[in-house]
Amino acid sequence: MTSPDLVQFAVFGIYPYLCLVVFLLGSLLRFDRDQYSWKSDSSQLLRAGSLRWGSNLFHVGVLFLFFGHLVGMLTPHFIYEPFISAGNKQVMAMVSGGLAGVLGFAGVTVLLHRRLTDERIRINSKPGDILLLVLLWVQLALGLATIPLSAQHLDGSMMLLLAEWAQRIVTLRPGAVELLASASWVFKLHMFLGMTVFLVFPFTRLVHVWSGFGTLAYLVRPYQMVRSRRLGVPPGHNSPQKQ
Ligand code: HEM
Repeated sequence: MTSPDLVQFAVFGIYPYLCLVVFLLGSLLRFDRDQYSWKSDSSQLLRAGSLRWGSNLFHVGVLFLFFGHLVGMLTPHFIYEPFISAGNKQVMAMVSGGLAGVLGFAGVTVLLHRRLTDERIRINSKPGDILLLVLLWVQLALGLATIPLSAQHLDGSMMLLLAEWAQRIVTLRPGAVELLASASWVFKLHMFLGMTVFLVFPFTRLVHVWSGFGTLAYLVRPYQMVRSRRLGVPPGHNSPQKQ
């Protein structure tokens, strides 16, 4: 193996697993050992105005992108092939992902700007808060930069290769790294930073994403039971007259 091959193997064959293990184990350990730090750490009390725009634009964009990547990358080709061709799926991803990417990028730009320029917010920011926003800013910019590259091969061939890489990684199948031989460095840097988001996840405020999805449990949880303080008396049957 030549040394560039070794680097490719380390970054796209080993690093994904390192990131996944740190993401899962790190989140579990932080939840177990440091629950008071488990929060989104909102800065709304320091300045609300631009947060409303920045945060909402960012979250709408990034949540769409999160699910888009999850479903788009991990659904095997044979499942969607009967309904949509790879080329059409790629165009759909470029248009919808491009739109969400622009929203997310505009949002994170506002968030980063207010964090750096508002004295009170900057003083109250940990270095990790700023680094995280910079990481997400670069990552969204790189994602947008892949769109003109994808436009050069509208048959979906590159998308299929990248999705196959992701599917082989998560199903522990060999031969994933070789698939990326022809991918541009823009795709590769985007993938590297995307994995890095998972790596830093447990050490940042990003842990609130678990809780955000966790709130969905409220949709299916049982009703809250309200009981009278007197044992055995059902709610609504403890009027003062009867006591
Ligand atoms: C699961 C659904 C989510 C919910 C309910 C949620 C909720 C929140 C809330 C309440 C805040 C604090 C208020 C604010 O500063 O905007 C926040 C901040 C933040 N969220 Fe989320 N979030 C979710 C998903 C995500 C995702 C997927 C990401 C990125 C990968 C993300 C990244 C951030 C960042 C970076 C901040 C800090 C923004 C700043 O610098 O002020 N969130 N989120």
